Amino acid sequence: MARKKIALIGAGNIGGELANLCVQKQLGDVILFDIPPKESFAKGKALDLEQASALLGSDAKVTGTSNWADCAGADVLIITAGIPRKPGQSRDDLVGTNVPIIRDVADNAKKHCPNAFMIVISNPLDAMVYELMRRTGKPKSEVVGMAGVLDSARFNLFLARETGASVKDIRSMVLGGHGDDMVPVLSNCTINGVPLTQLIAKDKLDAIVERTRKGGGEIVGLMGTSAYYAPAAASVAMAEAYLYDQKRLLPCAAYLEGEYGYRDFFMGVPCVIGAGGVEKVVEIALTAEEKVMLEKSAASVMSVVEVVKKSS
Ligand code: APR
Repeated sequence: MARKKIALIGAGNIGGELANLCVQKQLGDVILFDIPPKESFAKGKALDLEQASALLGSDAKVTGTSNWADCAGADVLIITAGIPRKPGQSRDDLVGTNVPIIRDVADNAKKHCPNAFMIVISNPLDAMVYELMRRTGKPKSEVVGMAGVLDSARFNLFLARETGASVKDIRSMVLGGHGDDMVPVLSNCTINGVPLTQLIAKDKLDAIVERTRKGGGEIVGLMGTSAYYAPAAASVAMAEAYLYDQKRLLPCAAYLEGEYGYRDFFMGVPCVIGAGGVEKVVEIALTAEEKVMLEKSAASVMSVVEVVKKSS
């Protein structure tokens, strides 16, 4: 069987770490794509990574390129093209710059790798993934946004540190838009089945929810640019679920057609990811308070999607 092909659009900080994880996990051959002025940089990164893969004894190829034709036949496309946040910026502040970029990516992806499962990371995430689906005309099962897996990982880590439990035993889900209104679903959080609310005081929990919501901004404040290790790891978990037909239940930005009462935009909801892509959106019971939070988050997402729609 031929090796799988994973095309990474954007060879910057997240793109490089994505390529590294794909090599380490031997997921397939990797194409590291960037715009022509960054082609030499992409080629250099690819060569460095191929040399690392030689140390691992892997035959997987890593190719740096600015030629979309090299992405032809990709099984998975992971998109980080765009500019990241700088301190003081919200994800929504990126819309003016990143919408033209996602349109360029969408047009080329449609032409060169129309059958790929497409995972979007570029921000503002929920609006970018919407525009990618609209512009490529792909079915909703083949286009997904990465946010909830990352936000849940941040939440899990802070909960593990606070409780002293192993991060392996924390089960949580963060839904809604990938912004400061995201919704940690406390009613479903457990430490290996034990409800979280029994193990942690309310004020501590509130502080952790707040830190999770601002988790991306905290890193931008420290580094001057956005996070890349955890976003890459989260996206690779989604790609693996697809490539290995794992049927994982993951919080992802999925296109909604009435689920949770919302329609015609992408937002973080629990999804089953397997060989069919986004095979199912799972509707879980939310408390009245969680529904109110989701409504607020959905309103934020819709306002950015409206900006994108009007600019088309
Ligand atoms: N096609 C392909 N790549 C592009 C395009 C394009 N049209 N436009 C820009 N790029 C490339 C840039 O040249 C750059 O190398 O995207 C890369 C982005 O890399 P970084 O600037 O290092 O940004 P990164 O930290 O990887 O974040 C990328 O993900 O989390 C989001 O908010 C973040 O939107 C940002 C994106």
